[in-house]
Amino acid sequence: MTSQNNKPEQEPKSEPTDRVFIFDTTLRDGEQAPGATMTLEEKLQIAEMLDDMGVDIIEAGFPIASNGDFEAVSEISRRSKNAVIAGLARAIPADIDRAGEAVKHAARGRIHTFVSTSPIHLEFQMNKTQDEVLEIVTKSVTQARNLIDDVEWSAMDATRTPIEYLARCTEAAIKAGATTINIPDTVGFATPEDHFQLFHDLMEMVPDSDKVIFSAHTHNDLGMAVANSLAAVRAGARQVECTINGLGERAGNAAMEELVMAIRTRADVMPYHTGIETTKISRISKVVSAAVNFPIQYNKAIVGKNAFAHESGIHQDGMLKNAETYEIMTPESVGIKSTSLVMGKHSGRHAFKEKLRDFGYELGDNQFQEAFQRFKNLADRKKNVYDEDIIALVDDEIGSAGDNIKLLELEVVSKTGGEHRCFIKLDVEGKEVSLIEEGSGSVDAIFRAIKAAVGAEPRLVLYGVDAVTGGTDAQANAHVRLEMNDRIVSGRATEPDTLVATARAYLSAYNRLLVERGAAAQGALSQ
Ligand code: KIV
Ligand code: ZN
Repeated sequence: MTSQNNKPEQEPKSEPTDRVFIFDTTLRDGEQAPGATMTLEEKLQIAEMLDDMGVDIIEAGFPIASNGDFEAVSEISRRSKNAVIAGLARAIPADIDRAGEAVKHAARGRIHTFVSTSPIHLEFQMNKTQDEVLEIVTKSVTQARNLIDDVEWSAMDATRTPIEYLARCTEAAIKAGATTINIPDTVGFATPEDHFQLFHDLMEMVPDSDKVIFSAHTHNDLGMAVANSLAAVRAGARQVECTINGLGERAGNAAMEELVMAIRTRADVMPYHTGIETTKISRISKVVSAAVNFPIQYNKAIVGKNAFAHESGIHQDGMLKNAETYEIMTPESVGIKSTSLVMGKHSGRHAFKEKLRDFGYELGDNQFQEAFQRFKNLADRKKNVYDEDIIALVDDEIGSAGDNIKLLELEVVSKTGGEHRCFIKLDVEGKEVSLIEEGSGSVDAIFRAIKAAVGAEPRLVLYGVDAVTGGTDAQANAHVRLEMNDRIVSGRATEPDTLVATARAYLSAYNRLLVERGAAAQGALSQ
């Protein structure tokens, strides 16, 4: 096992370069989180931001999973400027061809093919022997290499695979031409100590391991994803696979912002660097959170609302005297600007446009007019309009563009101990539908009214509301997650009124349920 006392044995065998490549899989593994489906426009926007902030490899999707995924990977490939664009493929000929088709548009494309290697996956999922899987490794990597020069091979459930067999598979993948070897902790089972040892020993055992890049792909089931990835880097891995906000299935993947800021802040003990422009972290974190409608935990490292807030008197006093008393990195280094009072109701179009540009928004004419009108209405109702208000309002405007069903009117009556009634008028694909429904409370009445109006019964998985800023006149941010026909989607809406936000969030999720997406997408990874 690893110990600080047998140091020479722990060091990677070859001289490592100190650059760690960032492989972002927000658009693939991140999107696999239940309810995290993104539209094509959202994926394009996020991919552009990832490229712009210096991500080395963007895993843009799983092209065989659906036409939507194929289209997204193809379009992101066409638009990418610097990043390598990867498409995921099972070790199946049709998958690999489809991934190759999608990434061929990129200046630098990559096929990422994977197969399970652990005994439990071989027996219960694949029903194959070790020798059969070994043959699949060679065939799949060879096929991918015939399509493209840059091929990543992953051993799914590697951390529960006997190392001797993992080494044989890795050797076969390298011989067949893989250029990156990814060792995923698929089920989030590893600890930093055994992850270090696994990478260290594997790189020792496999011939030509110094000719390829080793990659860590960690899941956060035990809260150790980032620590495990960093341990792999210490053992010699030079690529880490991660997502913005740690988005991903179950407890998620290693969070990119945490990996990057840990490497930067603790360069004294981790002498590596990444190519990430860290001041772009805060913005992309918000964009991803808004796109998938997953709120960020307040105390989330780096990007949580409280990550840089110093509430206690002792801390505040220290901070005023010298920020380093309690601050190991500055808010500015991750792109957080101090909250500012933006504009009032007398602010004009020009100032509003400038503000949006500051935040990185480029809206088309119609969307800009709509957003400006909403800002004016908000400024009429709310004394102080803050940066957060503008961002929430514009994200809402972008998120609801193209909805087929819109809220036209809402009236809710609620009496203590008495009735709760909702009158609703919707625009359902160009047709006005109005009705009245009762419920056990006002929210229940709203949801019942919408279900009756659209004639569907999605299951409510989650409902929540939070405030965009402080104050009783704060805008409400409502989140709704719905399930129907084995699909889970999320919706979100921001409004000055909580109940209107609630109704629109429900409609936002329902509109997403209507957007066609191949049924293969949700279950395709269980081959
Ligand atoms: O967690 C995992 O094993 C994966 C592979 C597809 C790389 O996401
Ligand atoms: Zn994964």
